[in-house]
Amino acid sequence: MGIFKRIFSGELTLANVVYKITVYRDSVMGRVAGKVVIITGGASGLGAADARLLSGEGARVVLTDVDRERGEALAAELEGALFIEHDVRDEAAWQHVIATTVERLGGLDVLVNNAGLVKFGSVEETTLEEYRLLNSVMSEGTFLGCKYAVPAMAQSGGGSIINISSVAALKGVGAIVAYTAAKGAIRAMTRSVAVHCQERKYNIRCNVVLPGAHDTPMTRAALAELPSEEEGLNQIQQHGQGRPEDVARLVLFLASEESCHITGSELVIDNGETMR
Ligand SMILES: NC(=O)c1ccc[n+]([C@@H]2O[C@H](COP(=O)([O-])OP(=O)(O)OC[C@H]3O[C@@H](n4cnc5c(N)ncnc54)[C@H](O)[C@@H]3O)[C@@H](O)[C@H]2O)c1
Repeated sequence: MGIFKRIFSGELTLANVVYKITVYRDSVMGRVAGKVVIITGGASGLGAADARLLSGEGARVVLTDVDRERGEALAAELEGALFIEHDVRDEAAWQHVIATTVERLGGLDVLVNNAGLVKFGSVEETTLEEYRLLNSVMSEGTFLGCKYAVPAMAQSGGGSIINISSVAALKGVGAIVAYTAAKGAIRAMTRSVAVHCQERKYNIRCNVVLPGAHDTPMTRAALAELPSEEEGLNQIQQHGQGRPEDVARLVLFLASEESCHITGSELVIDNGETMR
């Protein structure tokens, strides 16, 4: 039976047809075809996996990082990708990244606020300088990203902001007080940004991803430093480490239209580490 007959007979609704066309289009063109995506901290680990997957699904990717060498090497591998050297603590650099993206690629659809670093230290051991460093990279960096991406996305007709927090924001982890505080700020900030964008009818979604341990250069360096009796190490041994691609698939979902009804949400990816 022809497609029109099936619609008129009630066998297929218009929504079914639109869905089938969308699935077909995505399978041919990619799930984020044509979207312009900025990924901070994109030279390594989770950010690099996001860049590879989203680029493979048709996105035009702008990688930013303080690590020029690795960032440029990855951008050269990915079709149409651009690398911009960028310290996420620097407000003027953020303005430059957004303006360059809009100018060169015609708009902005997705921002992944991923850049980060970890330093060990309890509340007694951590210096104010260390506390400020981690919070300026992760909490202030994410704030600046949202601040300058929102107007650019609103101009493009909407978008998706994906903030990378951590399960450390859900638990008490005594050994990483500054990291935990920064990731907690990202978690709370996400809801504020999501509400603001919805109230303004910007069609911008903002969600936060909270990963457990995944195998990246950051995790490897941290594991090498952790004392064997440390609780965090037990938890990693118990729940295992995910692969960067596991987080990238979640980022892809949030970047794509498949998640169009999701905003202000917290998506935990930790193989059950925090489920009880
Ligand atoms: N790997 C994990 O298990 C895990 C778990 C939870 C959350 N996270 C978070 O995921 C994100 C990525 O971590 P990763 O494991 O891929 O680490 P990674 O060290 O492999 O990559 C982090 C990247 O961020 C960049 N970066 C650091 N400071 C920066 C700055 N000031 N400006 C711009 N770029 C900067 C680094 O150069 C690096 O390329 C981080 O926010 C991290 O906290 C990771």
